[in-house]
Amino acid sequence: MTVVKLDHALIKHKLTNIRKSSTSTKDFYQNVNEIAGLMAYEISKDFPVRQIEITTPICKSMQPELACEVVIVPILRAGLGMVDGIRNLIPTAKVGFIGLYRDEETLEPHKYFCKLPETIHNGITLVVDPMLATGGSAISAIQMLKEEGATDIRFACLVAAPEGVEALSNAHPDVKIYLASEDEKLNENGYIVPGLGDCGDRLFGTK
Ligand code: PRP
Ligand code: URA
Repeated sequence: MTVVKLDHALIKHKLTNIRKSSTSTKDFYQNVNEIAGLMAYEISKDFPVRQIEITTPICKSMQPELACEVVIVPILRAGLGMVDGIRNLIPTAKVGFIGLYRDEETLEPHKYFCKLPETIHNGITLVVDPMLATGGSAISAIQMLKEEGATDIRFACLVAAPEGVEALSNAHPDVKIYLASEDEKLNENGYIVPGLGDCGDRLFGTK
């Protein structure tokens, strides 16, 4: 299992912005996307490249270009908040969608949507969800992706509870986990402490 905590001053600063309950929906959405972009820069640093011949204004030259298909898979709804920030950096990435919601009583994930591109079989799949709480949603989404043929899967979240990191690492030890912060714990309602509240509602202004 590999867990990478992204240690960057801008990520920390923007994370503090979204933790504040006074942050507006617009600023919350913008900061989530910006953090996702900064994380993608780090996550993609070892993506494979191949040499291609190009012509510069001066001469022909062999230069590197990305040599892999990238599929971003947001877990709906909150994962949608991370997609644009990553696509700004990797515009060739395809996007698949997995819809899951957490039952408020049992905290069990329930699937309601799945639409994935063909390239899921032969590329790098980056599953994104700002919150990793019990880990149930991420574990279930990654299980679905493996059943659909994804092999190289990475998971990126903004805020994780230690309980979720442990559960996800145990369930899918082959999946590399990237996080911006590992917080203290889950509370009795399954919310991350100190966390940032309900991420989906804050992104889309639904409460
Ligand atoms: C939130 C969050 C994760 C999940 C994390 O989604 O975006 O998907 O909870 O919790 P877990 O690790 O305990 O499964 P939620 O179910 O609230 O749906 P939403 O994104 O539509 O608001
Ligand atoms: N989902 C959220 O949106 N926030 C939490 O703290 C836990 C799960």
